[in-house]
Amino acid sequence: MNQKKTWSDRFETSLNPVIAVFNASIGFDIALIEYDLTGSVAHAQMLAYTGIISHEEGEQLVAGLEQIRQEYRNGNFNPGVEAEDVHFAVERRLTELVGDVGKKLHTARSRNDQVGTDIRLYLRDQIEQIRSLIRNLQQVLLNLAENHVETLIPGYTHLQRAQPLSLAHHLMAYFQMLQRDYQRLGEIYQRTNISPLGCGALAGTTFPIDRHYSANLLHFSGVYANSLDGVSDRDFAIEFLCSSSLIMVHLSRLSEEIILWASEEFSFVTLKDNCSTGSSIMPQKKNPDVPELIRGKTGRVFGHLQALLVIMKGLPLAYNKDLQEDKEAIFDGVNTVKGCLEAMTILLAEGLQFKEQRLAEAVNSDFSNATDVADYLAAKGVPFREAYNLVGKVVKTSLAAGKLLKELTMTEWQQLHPAFEQDIYEAIAPRQVVAARNSYGGTGFAQVKLAIENAKQLINNN
Ligand code: ARG
Repeated sequence: MNQKKTWSDRFETSLNPVIAVFNASIGFDIALIEYDLTGSVAHAQMLAYTGIISHEEGEQLVAGLEQIRQEYRNGNFNPGVEAEDVHFAVERRLTELVGDVGKKLHTARSRNDQVGTDIRLYLRDQIEQIRSLIRNLQQVLLNLAENHVETLIPGYTHLQRAQPLSLAHHLMAYFQMLQRDYQRLGEIYQRTNISPLGCGALAGTTFPIDRHYSANLLHFSGVYANSLDGVSDRDFAIEFLCSSSLIMVHLSRLSEEIILWASEEFSFVTLKDNCSTGSSIMPQKKNPDVPELIRGKTGRVFGHLQALLVIMKGLPLAYNKDLQEDKEAIFDGVNTVKGCLEAMTILLAEGLQFKEQRLAEAVNSDFSNATDVADYLAAKGVPFREAYNLVGKVVKTSLAAGKLLKELTMTEWQQLHPAFEQDIYEAIAPRQVVAARNSYGGTGFAQVKLAIENAKQLINNN
């Protein structure tokens, strides 16, 4: 590779070609090009506004930068490894296009504040997109919940049958997790939306720049107060990957449930053909690849978070080349979260069907109404712990006799405790068991309907 020297005349030879490849980030930071161009346009305009360059020069720079944008969009700008990174690639092309004035673009700027600006502009956009994908998924959960207020599903603790639930209540738990994700990303947006442009290499600049002017052009809400911090801060990216990891935790938990539900053992959902795959050898199989992939991809997002934390922990101020390693972590984190949110939205909207008949059978054939028997006695004045022990004994004898609680005769109930009356049968019917949990935030149908209404308002208000 016969490459041109990148650096000042201090350097006499070019880079070893293997090192050139090792050093280059163009292979991935090209993803920042639109933001790099936008940042450079604002910088050029600021240089002209402050009189550091002439207005005419400013206009030539902007025109050249916009021409590169067109070339890139048309597929005609494909810098190779000789460019090192997207910033050099743009500056070189600019000088080819507009001549020597192109060399003035980098006045009062360093690639350190430039790349910081690019990543923030990129991430700001991505956060908005991810928030809207979260809203789409929340909407699908809400639609499903509305259709399943009266559908019952076994509720579990320790993956043991615990108490029956409204299926809507179960689904709305995920709506709430996603609501926190949505809010969290909104807060991270605020801290991402601060301009490092004008921090220079590390110490600021000798030129009479106006950092607020360029920040305004880029719709940043403020500027970094300290130039060293501005060029070397990646807190916002770590926060983003942390928040992304939590989104993945939520998607992965839901995935795990769907995978269980789709098994023969649970049989709570059927996967439709449009979202499941077969086996190359076992013709009977239908595999839940989508939730499995989401669960599996969770690991890489956690990994990116770890990577960035470790990259940062030992860095002396200010910029160090280690920071080039932030990009692939951020990009892959963004792409993974977006892909998983989209896939889960499609899976829930059109890829699976709850088996209502089977769910009804499930909640009708277990002991998940045992708490309600104890509550029944407690409501009649029997101390709860005493009632609890009594019911434990009934469960034991019923299990031995192969009977469900609803199959006990009135005489058997009364032998157990004289407080039992005919209405015990009504009290332990699954529908009543669910309806009765009418405490705020509980699974009672009235509460679930209220929760759905509140959720709708939350979404509509923003
Ligand atoms: N490609 C570099 C990065 O991604 C750009 C900044 C380089 N700055 C420097 N001082 N070498 O971090």
